[in-house]
Amino acid sequence: MWKNIQPAPPDSILGLTEQFKKDRNPQKVNLGVGVYKDNSGNTPILGAVKKAEQMLLAGETTKSYLPISGDPAYDKAVQKLVLGEECETFQSSRAVTVHAPGGTGALKVGAALLKKFKPQARVWVSSPTWANHNGIFSDAGFELDRYSYYNPETKGLEFDRMLATLGRIPAGDIVVLHTCCHNPSGVDLNPGQWDEVVGLAKQQGWIPFLDFAYQGFGEGVVEDRYAVEQFGAAGIDFLVASSFSKNFGLYNERTGALTVICPSGDEAAVAMSHVKTVIRTNYSNPPAHGGLVATIILNDPQLYQQWLAELADMRDRIKDMRRALVQGLAESGVEGDFSFIEQQRGMFSFSGLSDDVVKWLRAEKGIYMVGGGRINLAGLTTDNIDYVCRSIAEAVKSVG
Ligand code: LMR
Repeated sequence: MWKNIQPAPPDSILGLTEQFKKDRNPQKVNLGVGVYKDNSGNTPILGAVKKAEQMLLAGETTKSYLPISGDPAYDKAVQKLVLGEECETFQSSRAVTVHAPGGTGALKVGAALLKKFKPQARVWVSSPTWANHNGIFSDAGFELDRYSYYNPETKGLEFDRMLATLGRIPAGDIVVLHTCCHNPSGVDLNPGQWDEVVGLAKQQGWIPFLDFAYQGFGEGVVEDRYAVEQFGAAGIDFLVASSFSKNFGLYNERTGALTVICPSGDEAAVAMSHVKTVIRTNYSNPPAHGGLVATIILNDPQLYQQWLAELADMRDRIKDMRRALVQGLAESGVEGDFSFIEQQRGMFSFSGLSDDVVKWLRAEKGIYMVGGGRINLAGLTTDNIDYVCRSIAEAVKSVG
């Protein structure tokens, strides 16, 4: 069956990790995949997660199936965090949430749901966007289009051009927006800009699909959900794919959620019935462990505070590394103004390094970045940053 079939190319992000693992360079550094690392280069299990796991093990009585939509306590806890407890959207029955296997799983379920009821819609993604958005939505059968977002010249947001595109997207089309910590650029909208985008969504009638994979990595869990709150207040249809991979470090437990928000509770109930059908025919019901752990933490005041503190530590360390990188590049004699790296938010920075530099660094120095020059700042440590900065200086001189 496979004799005449060409192999698929490796994944542009996860494929890099496979390559990195095989690299024998003792100084190798992985700045590719969006996984948090501490200053020792490890991806730790959070203390709050360890405690919750102990509580879970002690009290767990069954491994029976979860409901199709996941544990109701999990779904409620997700809504509280993602929508905000004070919000009418949370207090009403206009929002329905299901546990999905990670943020990718949530996007996939959402895409399949939308394809059923908006088969002719186009999906608009930011230029650039997370590579897997393209795969997920085109696999679901959608045609993709792009709206302006990042300007490589200014290293900032092209807000006017973004608005111009969003202002001509027709009703019923789907617009994928990064709620915070834009992947791959690290460039976000400010609250005033979000208000304008929400206004356009309402005016035009397109359907926002918010990718919310980095809550807490920008400014904090409350600040980072500003866009969700404003879309909620607008009373329109929208969807949110959220994930606990990064902010709880539950990467391999595939702990995410899809929340569908509707103008009324009756519509939300209809939406939920169809989301359940999509899940049932795909993977039947979600894995339990990560969701149970997150629910314990989100409902236990002490563990919740511990988690917030651990999340703040991760956020602050990344900000420290942003500063250290800007300083290190200047000290290593790399020409140019890299101060934009400090303005960007979340795990990633679009470094502005060319694809030739990226390839050279991988081949010659064992330093892995995603094509387009995306750097995961969390891969930098006080031990490897000098090596990285000196290597970038050498790369820019050789091929930049
Ligand atoms: C990333 O962008 O590196 C992460 O979101 C991990 C992934 O699945 O691509």
